[in-house]
Amino acid sequence: MTTQQWLAAFLIGGGLVAAGRPAAAELPGNPSRGQAFFASKQCGRCHKPRGQQALGPPLDELRRRQGVLELAGRLWNHAPAMLGVLEAEGIEWPEISTSEMGDLMAYLQADYLLDQPPDLFAGQVTLVKVGCLKCHRLRGEGGSAGIELTEYHGGYESPVVWAASIWNHSPRMAKQAVEMGILYPRFTGAEMANLYGYLRNVAEKPQ
Ligand code: HEC
Ligand code: HEC
Repeated sequence: MTTQQWLAAFLIGGGLVAAGRPAAAELPGNPSRGQAFFASKQCGRCHKPRGQQALGPPLDELRRRQGVLELAGRLWNHAPAMLGVLEAEGIEWPEISTSEMGDLMAYLQADYLLDQPPDLFAGQVTLVKVGCLKCHRLRGEGGSAGIELTEYHGGYESPVVWAASIWNHSPRMAKQAVEMGILYPRFTGAEMANLYGYLRNVAEKPQ
């Protein structure tokens, strides 16, 4: 075996990770397509380069190394603020397809390797704490405004599929929360990763 062949086998076999060196980034999509998407979907209206006046935090702050599910949590949190402004200006909520979400997340420097493996128990605690069950059911327990969460099989297929589907439903959820007079859920840190891990796990194991 030449050194080059050995190195190739070592890399393919995951030896680099085992040796404790940082693994290469695992981006969810294509960052340059994501950049074009960001510009075309109203995002640039409120997120501009640092120093330029805008409603939202500067673009340079949005683009930082972060977990894919961590970013999904951030996107979830900002739906009500964004929805309010868009509605006041008569602009429709920008729908995001799964592949567009992957590209957008890659542009915002999200990386699968930066999400911790989910803590399933903490995910169950989050589900109750943030109030999903005020509107949704889990194994029959909970509210009736939304779906039974164990029956959303396709939706848990991957973190990007999940992020896109909750993004597209968030205007209806935010409005429902206002109608019911309840607080719209918010996520910090690893909460979204834990919640997703927990939901995916219970959906895969019907009772
Ligand atoms: C109408 C203004 C507006 C538009 C349009 C908008 N945002 Fe935001 N965004 C905000 C505001 C305000 C915040 C901070 C407040 C909050 O998180 O609720 C924010 C926060 C964020 C954050 C979280 C920042 C952080 O680090 O916590 C991300 C990520 C983000 N926006 C991405 C986007 C993307 C992607 C789009 C386009 C699909 C978009 N925004 C469109 C106003 C906007
Ligand atoms: C205030 C009520 C309310 C809360 C709280 C709420 N949801 Fe929803 N959710 C809804 C409604 C209503 C829909 C249907 C939206 C639509 O038709 O676009 C929905 C849709 C969804 C969908 C898409 C399902 C489909 O129809 O394809 C998912 C996934 C989801 N919610 C997950 C959650 C999770 C996870 C939480 C907690 C973090 C949560 N929801 C909190 C009301 C709520």
